[in-house]
Amino acid sequence: MHDHQAPSRTVASEEGLKAEPGAPRKKIFVKTYGCQMNVYDSARMVDVMAPSGYSEVDTPDDADIVILNTCHIREKAADKVYSELGRLRELKKEKSGRGEELLIGVAGCVAQAEGEEMRRRAPVVDLVFGPQTYHRLPEYVARLANGGPGIVETEFPADDKFGTLPMPEKRKTLARGATAFLTIQEGCDKFCTFCVVPYTRGSEFSRPIARILEEARALVDAGVREITLLGQNVNAWHGVDETGRPATLGRLIRALAQIDGLARLRYTTSHPRDMDEELIAAHRDVPELMPYLHLPVQSGSDRILAAMNRRHDADTYYRIIDRIRAAKPDIALSSDFIVGFPGETEADFEATLGLIRTVGFAQAYSFKYSPRPGTPAATEEDQVPEDVKSERLQRLQALLGEQQLAFNAGCAGRTMPVLFDRRGRGESQLVGRSPYLQSVHIDDAPEHLFGSLVDVVIEEGHRNSLRGRLREEAGVLV
Ligand code: SAH
Ligand code: SF4
Ligand code: F3S
Repeated sequence: MHDHQAPSRTVASEEGLKAEPGAPRKKIFVKTYGCQMNVYDSARMVDVMAPSGYSEVDTPDDADIVILNTCHIREKAADKVYSELGRLRELKKEKSGRGEELLIGVAGCVAQAEGEEMRRRAPVVDLVFGPQTYHRLPEYVARLANGGPGIVETEFPADDKFGTLPMPEKRKTLARGATAFLTIQEGCDKFCTFCVVPYTRGSEFSRPIARILEEARALVDAGVREITLLGQNVNAWHGVDETGRPATLGRLIRALAQIDGLARLRYTTSHPRDMDEELIAAHRDVPELMPYLHLPVQSGSDRILAAMNRRHDADTYYRIIDRIRAAKPDIALSSDFIVGFPGETEADFEATLGLIRTVGFAQAYSFKYSPRPGTPAATEEDQVPEDVKSERLQRLQALLGEQQLAFNAGCAGRTMPVLFDRRGRGESQLVGRSPYLQSVHIDDAPEHLFGSLVDVVIEEGHRNSLRGRLREEAGVLV
């Protein structure tokens, strides 16, 4: 789950945002930080406010409500929230000078982690609520509108958030193009010693298969061609299939792949311990499941992996990768790495570089270890100095960068199906996604290809993207 993967677009949608008759038109602006799950949650917050007459806007300036949907994963992510709140305080002052109101809410993982503390530090905040209670947003707003006191809600409620959220017709608002996220699992019971997620998102929860299929069908009806299944531990998803038998993610993927019009499936983020046979077999058998796997390993040193409580060693990771490559030889691999975990020596770090060389990644994310309040690793004594972390991160990223460039350059000359889901900078430039999640740019693209899956001849592979052209006889594949 990554901050840099969160799309920056905030597109007001056509459907589902209509106010109920007689309701006043009001505006909501949601700013998203953090991972894809926050992107999904932000969209649902907009959906849930639609029946009360709120439509989404893409700037805070003329909004009646501003929600910051926050991330607590690293210190930098959390700090951004307070600088944004400083700006919002000015905006609120300006507005109140004009006799207008601005309601400021903080949602997401910082809200969950800090609770009351947040309103003490930033009294401008009217509403603090965690990731498990955003379905109650209309109720909070109504209470505040009636002059109620500030609200802080960080309980994990007993009612099922997903069960309470609007039905699929309304959820068409989620279809903000040809690609969409669908949260199938939340929370985490793994307690890696560096990570806040088990505290901010709570314990593992899997949505029932019927609800997931219903939401996926609604997305496809609304024009979505590619769905990315989301969860903090997405491959820990478990449920029961139509026949009442226990099912894991591989089974769910097979059921989703049956939906007419759904061309592509992906899932993120998975944990090595939950890569079971059924899921690996789905990579072999289900053509809709894209040949790309994000499987965070964090470190290549067994000593550090143990201290992180990852509960697997480097060798186990290699064996999983071998099984996946045997099932799907062209799979592109991605991962997450942390450098400078407490106690990490040069030899530990070199073991990580060794793992990267052995596996070979098409792309990856890497971070300097950031001590997080309340997590066991934060109070370890042998913290690694900042300059050592920076130096290691640079070396690690140089190696990952080489591998990424080699992978992309190796795609030149191939023809790949590309799903066009963004407009490029230049006029008539379209940007799409390859099966391996690379960005593919083409010039002189006919407008009607937006939202379609089309064969593209790759001409150049750069570090962060590919450039291609349409095949002469190009037809729309889906
Ligand atoms: N559930 C996923 C990861 C969720 S957090 C998994 O188990 O892999 C996304 C990534 O952020 C992690 O994979 C890790 O690389 C990074 N991360 C989490 N906590 C961190 C911390 N305290 N400092 C630096 N990076 C961190
Ligand atoms: Fe965090 Fe570990 Fe859970 Fe991933 S598996 S969310 S890194 S505690
Ligand atoms: Fe951040 Fe919470 Fe996602 S801490 S990475 S927004 S689960």
